[in-house]
Amino acid sequence: MQAELQGQVCKNCHPLGCQDYLEQQAHRLSTVANQAEFKLKGKRALILGASSGFGLAARQVLMQLGQFDTLGVFLERPPKGEQLGSAGFYHALFSQQQGQALGLTSLNLNCDAYSPESKERVANALAKLGGPVDLVIYSLAAGARKNAKGELIKSAIKPLQHSIEVKQIDLATDQWQSQQIEPASSEEIEATKAVLGGQDWQQWILYLQQAGLLAKGVRTLAFSYQGPEHSYPLYHHGTLGAAKADLAEHQGLINELLKPQSGQARIAVCKALVTKASFFIPGFVPYLACLSKVLRAKGLEEDCLGQMHRLFTQDWPEQGDIRLDDRELLPEVQQQVKALLEALNDDNWQQLSDYPHVKQELLAMHGFGQPRSQEPIGNEQLLSWLSLAHLND
Ligand code: NAI
Repeated sequence: MQAELQGQVCKNCHPLGCQDYLEQQAHRLSTVANQAEFKLKGKRALILGASSGFGLAARQVLMQLGQFDTLGVFLERPPKGEQLGSAGFYHALFSQQQGQALGLTSLNLNCDAYSPESKERVANALAKLGGPVDLVIYSLAAGARKNAKGELIKSAIKPLQHSIEVKQIDLATDQWQSQQIEPASSEEIEATKAVLGGQDWQQWILYLQQAGLLAKGVRTLAFSYQGPEHSYPLYHHGTLGAAKADLAEHQGLINELLKPQSGQARIAVCKALVTKASFFIPGFVPYLACLSKVLRAKGLEEDCLGQMHRLFTQDWPEQGDIRLDDRELLPEVQQQVKALLEALNDDNWQQLSDYPHVKQELLAMHGFGQPRSQEPIGNEQLLSWLSLAHLND
C-alpha cells in the first residue's frame, strides 16, 4: 500500500505499520526503563489527545515507565467500508493493548473532547480506573471546534500585524511553493484562542473537580510552543502565540481552582516536532527540516517520545514553565538554522535541508516505510480491530 499525500496531509495509513511504529516506541522505552527514574507520583492519568504526537508519547511513557492506568481520549476516524480509518485510531488502539499487556487498566474513548456530552462519557469511563486521577494531560490540537451554541469555529495560524511570505512544501509533489499570509482579523484571533487556547482546558478541570474525579495533589499539564525570535512574527507574536498566551492565562485560573486540593497546572514548552498538527502550520515544514538537520548533526535531536521521556524523568522546576525547547533555542543551533533557511532556494532545498528525513518521519507515523507496511489487511482483521475499539463505549 502506498501513502496518499495531499498538500500537507497524509490521508491514509497502514494499520500494521502503525502497530510497528508503536512497538518501536515500546522497545525504545524498554531499553531506557532501567536507566532513568520516573519522577511523577501517582497511578492514574487522563490524556486528552492521546492518539498522536505529544499525548500519545506521554501515554506511552506513563504506562511503561510509570505503570499508570490511563484513559485516552481522542477524535479519530475508525475503519468504515473500504476506508481503513486514520493513523491515530490505530495508535490509540495498539497503545491501549500495550498497556493491557503490561497488566494496566488502559481505556480509550473516541469522542469530540470539546462537546459537553463527552465530559459525561469520560466521567463514566474514569469510574472504571478505580479512583480519582493524579494527572490530566491536555494535548488537543484541532483546526476547529464547536462553540457552546454548536457553531463551528476555525483556528487560523496567521501574523497579527503585517502580511508574511512563507515557503511551503507540497508533500505529494515535493514542490517548494511560496505562500502569502495576510494578518488575522480580530474574529480569527478570537477563534484561534477558542480552539487552541486554555478555555476548554479550564472547563475540563472544573468539570472533573466538581465530579470528584481529581486526586489530592493532582497535576494537569498542557503543551506550548515559543520558537526562535526569527519566527516570532508568524508564531509567537501571531495568532498561535495569542492562543498560547490564553493557555497561560487559564493556567493561572486553574491553579486557583486546584489550590484547595494542593493541585497544580503546569505548562511544558516543547520543541518543534513532526506531528500531524505541526504539518498544517504555514511555513513550519521548511523550519522543521532545517532544525532537524542542525540538531541531528549535533546529536541533539529528540522526537515526541524523547521529549516526553525527558519530561517525566526530570524534576520539574518549582514554578514557571517546564522548558523542553532548550536544545532548539540554543544560540548556535538557531544561528545555523537561520542561515540554512536563508540559503534555501528552489533548486537546493531538498539537498540542504533534512526534508527527506522529516517527510519519512511523518510517513512512519502513518505506518509507511515500516516492516509490515506492504502486508495486506483482511476484512476480518479490520472487523476485529473495530470491535475492540468499541469495547469501552
Ligand atoms: P497531534 O495532531 O499529533 O495530536 C492532537 C491530538 O488531539 C490527537 O490525539 C487528536 O485525536 C486530538 N484531537 C483533536 N481534536 C480533537 C477533538 N475535537 N476531540 C478529541 N480529541 C481531539 O498534535 P501535537 O502536535 O501533539 O499537539 C499537541 C499539543 O502540543 C498542542 O497544544 C500543540 O500546540 C503542542 N505543541 C506542539 C508542537 C509541535 O511542534 N508539534 C510543539 C510544541 C507544542
